[in-house]
Amino acid sequence: MKLFKTIKQLQEVLGGDRSNKLTVGFVPTMGALHEGHLSLVRRAGAENERVVVSIFVNPTQFNDPKDLKNYPRTLDTDLTLLASCPCDYVFAPEPEEMYPEPDQRKFDFGSLERVMEGKFRPGHFNGVAQVVSKLFDIVSPDRAYFGRKDFQQYSIILKMCQLLQLDTAIIPCDIVREADGLAMSSRNSLLTREHRAVAPQIYLILQEAILDSVSFTPAEVAERVVGKINSVGLLQAEYFEIVNEHTLEPVNSWEEPGTKVGCIAVFAGAVRLIDNVIFDK
Ligand code: PAF
Repeated sequence: MKLFKTIKQLQEVLGGDRSNKLTVGFVPTMGALHEGHLSLVRRAGAENERVVVSIFVNPTQFNDPKDLKNYPRTLDTDLTLLASCPCDYVFAPEPEEMYPEPDQRKFDFGSLERVMEGKFRPGHFNGVAQVVSKLFDIVSPDRAYFGRKDFQQYSIILKMCQLLQLDTAIIPCDIVREADGLAMSSRNSLLTREHRAVAPQIYLILQEAILDSVSFTPAEVAERVVGKINSVGLLQAEYFEIVNEHTLEPVNSWEEPGTKVGCIAVFAGAVRLIDNVIFDK
């Protein structure tokens, strides 16, 4: 496994791989790696001849400067974890390498960016698209791997590829959970002991929502989820929305066609956690 800090170094080795017609799988991350990330890297290794993992805490996608400052940075541990995975190249640039000049590009994701994360984190998805499009430009991956935990991000990346006419295949990967059901996230390491103890309630309540969907309308299910989260104590729901998998439009009736996804954002103290479940209807 080789570590690169500059675009030029990475592109040199990738150029060699390309001339040998090797396929390239790419896993973009912001580091603080956990089993969820590693599962993406293993899948990339099973499906490609070369695997690139990027580790870059992208400033342009943070709408809250405190969140950017507190985001966990654990490069040495990340490299140790990746060494036991099928990872050939790690790209860990400094911000100046990625943004020698401010990125002024504005993407238009239409209604996809006006709901849920887009509504509560203004500018977030524009920053995600800025960095992911730059990374795709640098790596030119055949396949790129994204966790379904960031469900809306996955939809945005698909749309970005369509807007930029990129032919990288975007591969969604299942959510990886702790034994108690909490979705794995780099932010989990920031939870206090008390908040960590109650955080698994999020997934339990989402599972109850699936059971509730037999007897209640989508709006009623949503109201019950928010009520239950807020009654846990130490948890505060920011939103819970049941949306169509493709359009991210709110679902009004279970009879509507298409897969429905229940997406949630919850504050556990200062730490914002997201999760989602699929309503199989
Ligand atoms: O999901 C993430 O960790 C980030 O949003 C990504 C895709 C690496 C872009 O910075």
